[in-house]
Amino acid sequence: MESDNKGEFNMEKRDLLYEGKAKILYLTEDTDLLIQMFKDELTAFNGTKKGSFDGKGEICNAISTYLFEYLENYHVLTHFVSKSTDTEMVVKRLEMIPIEIVVRNIATANLSKTYNLAEGDVLQYPIIEYFLKDDQLGDPMINEHHAYAMGYATPEEMRMISRVASKVNAIFKSFFDRRGLLLVDFKLEFGKLAKNLLIGDEITPDTCRIWDKKTNKKMDKDRFRYDMGQVDKVYNELKDRILSAG
Ligand code: ATP
Ligand code: TYD
Repeated sequence: MESDNKGEFNMEKRDLLYEGKAKILYLTEDTDLLIQMFKDELTAFNGTKKGSFDGKGEICNAISTYLFEYLENYHVLTHFVSKSTDTEMVVKRLEMIPIEIVVRNIATANLSKTYNLAEGDVLQYPIIEYFLKDDQLGDPMINEHHAYAMGYATPEEMRMISRVASKVNAIFKSFFDRRGLLLVDFKLEFGKLAKNLLIGDEITPDTCRIWDKKTNKKMDKDRFRYDMGQVDKVYNELKDRILSAG
């Protein structure tokens, strides 16, 4: 779709700001805005396992766009401005807080292993976990006191982050439920803009665990992590179900 340097939103793409494992951020003609481009690559286990499939970037851009726009309806602030091409969105440039916020509703993976919970056990209350975003350290788990002590976020910011993450969880749980899907867990990143905290980064099957409610079929990056096959087919199916009216 992209015939020149400009997307449908007519925002000129300038220098590359940052290339990560799944996305590229570009500067634009407007210093407050970035273009976030979704790559076809996917990685797992701290980047040690790598793969890709055609159309993955397009699917993740479509899903993220839909979910960010959905959150706007509930007055949740996000960096999303506009979908500009099939694989790109215009976002507000944030000063990112280097903490990954994970919300879990259902036991699986490390949570099951660590606390001896059966895979699929519904938690009596959602769990919020924090991880320091540092690939060299292997993204260690932290609590809010680590975050204040090391200067990554203030107590007020951590309180706000936890409040917004709980609200997003409540919104998405019923959103996915209406589509016959279970929101098992998901990750958010926050960044600062002036005095506000906004959700940044992406909300996609790379960063969530989503199961079919009837069959418990995994419809997320676990299919890639654990070589379960049909990654592209399942990502496409998930996109169709998310974008359906519900
Ligand atoms: P990881 O996969 O562990 O998140 P990564 O750096 O490889 O690491 P990518 O998703 O490929 O991740 O890269 C996107 C980067 O852009 C992330 O570091 C993310 O924190 C950052 N980012 C996301 N949204 C914004 C924003 N609005 N402003 C500035 N930086 C952002
Ligand atoms: P994670 O905390 O890695 O737990 P586990 O070891 O049990 O797999 O993942 C929980 C959820 O959060 C999962 O949906 C993936 C997402 N997540 C990310 O997308 N990126 C991250 O860096 C982290 C820590 C989690």
